[in-house]
Amino acid sequence: MDVISVIRTKRDRGELSDAQIDWVIDAYTRGEVADEQMSALAMAILLNGMNRREIARWTAAMIASGERMDFSSLSRPTADKHSTGGVGDKITLPLAPLVAACGAAVPQLSGRGLGHTGGTLDKLESIPGWRALLSNEEMLSVLDGTGAVICAAGDGLAPADKKLYALRDVTGTVEAIPLIASSIMSKKIAEGTGSLVLDVKVGTGAFMKTIEDARELASTMVGLGTDHGVKTVALLTDMSTPLGLTAGNALEVRESVEVLAGGGPADVVELTIALAREMLDAAGVKDADPAKALADGSAMDVWRRMIAAQGGDPDATLPVAREQHVIKAPASGVLTRLDAYGIGVAAWRLGAGRARKEDPVQAGAGVELHAKPGDEVTEGQPLLTLHTDTPERFEYALESIEGSYDIAAPGTDSTPSPVVLERIA
Ligand code: URA
Repeated sequence: MDVISVIRTKRDRGELSDAQIDWVIDAYTRGEVADEQMSALAMAILLNGMNRREIARWTAAMIASGERMDFSSLSRPTADKHSTGGVGDKITLPLAPLVAACGAAVPQLSGRGLGHTGGTLDKLESIPGWRALLSNEEMLSVLDGTGAVICAAGDGLAPADKKLYALRDVTGTVEAIPLIASSIMSKKIAEGTGSLVLDVKVGTGAFMKTIEDARELASTMVGLGTDHGVKTVALLTDMSTPLGLTAGNALEVRESVEVLAGGGPADVVELTIALAREMLDAAGVKDADPAKALADGSAMDVWRRMIAAQGGDPDATLPVAREQHVIKAPASGVLTRLDAYGIGVAAWRLGAGRARKEDPVQAGAGVELHAKPGDEVTEGQPLLTLHTDTPERFEYALESIEGSYDIAAPGTDSTPSPVVLERIA
């Protein structure tokens, strides 16, 4: 087999054979196919697409490039959730302990933020002592002992994807639905979960800007999971405005703990419970009531044990940024729009995110929202508070907030988008 003929097949809108796909993924993982050759192939796939058979084979080849985890020794069924990423999306934090409190085991391999979307591991690392890196044995032991674990994926899981994703990131080939679907699902299937709920975000703050693209991505991923024996369901959820009232690491941990204590913003609670119901249903856990497990403290108990099992102190004071800047409402009226992308970029510029993989993040940095779309605001009231340790960042963050919100005349009818838009199974 030679790589140039594989590239030419896709460049000329042909179908890649199973043998071509198996060979190119294996040869790339071993270093026999060079980065420039793989980037030419990724661009041909972005431009000319892949059919369902090609996507399924590509995913299987990426799974086969590494190890597969096995949770069959656990006494409970496993359920996992994957979000395609958004602004203020802290849902994994309350969701994993909540689903564990209801009877499923939640092995949640998570990532770090890149660009304007936050990462679950960065958020949890604002808890003093908490460790994201666990060996496979440690991961199993936390999962078995507490019912939930949130940690980084080990290097052995789908190494072909690790290499290819880093390449796509710097060659303008991230936004190909076949490549996104196979990248996400190869990791989730290799992780060994029995069931999976996908939270596919739609809107300005998400990868998928339109409902049509989100539907295509969701149905491709549901098909891949189902074909590999993983019960998979997707919810398409709104990401036109940030989730909850915070975007930033420690700020989001604080808000997640409020949800676990039975409070927290309505949209975060609604999505957490909707995803928990889907996960429990997919895992075959009957008669559990996630709303009750939030109200009676049982989800909070699992959270405390899970954080402590990974070295964190659940009672520690969370870091607070050294400087704050308040943005006030310029007029009285109804907040009709608060754009997720603008707020996400501001949080990132304040230090909550990183520009390069190796950059550190500030635990206390981010944006706090004092109103959500649909709320009445009064001229001069705080609308947003920006937090950072490095005040020279305020100006740059303010640029991204300019034009990110609209206030209409008092009494204007403004109905915010529902949180859950569609379900695909
Ligand atoms: N997340 C992934 O893991 N892979 C992609 O391609 C996009 C988002």
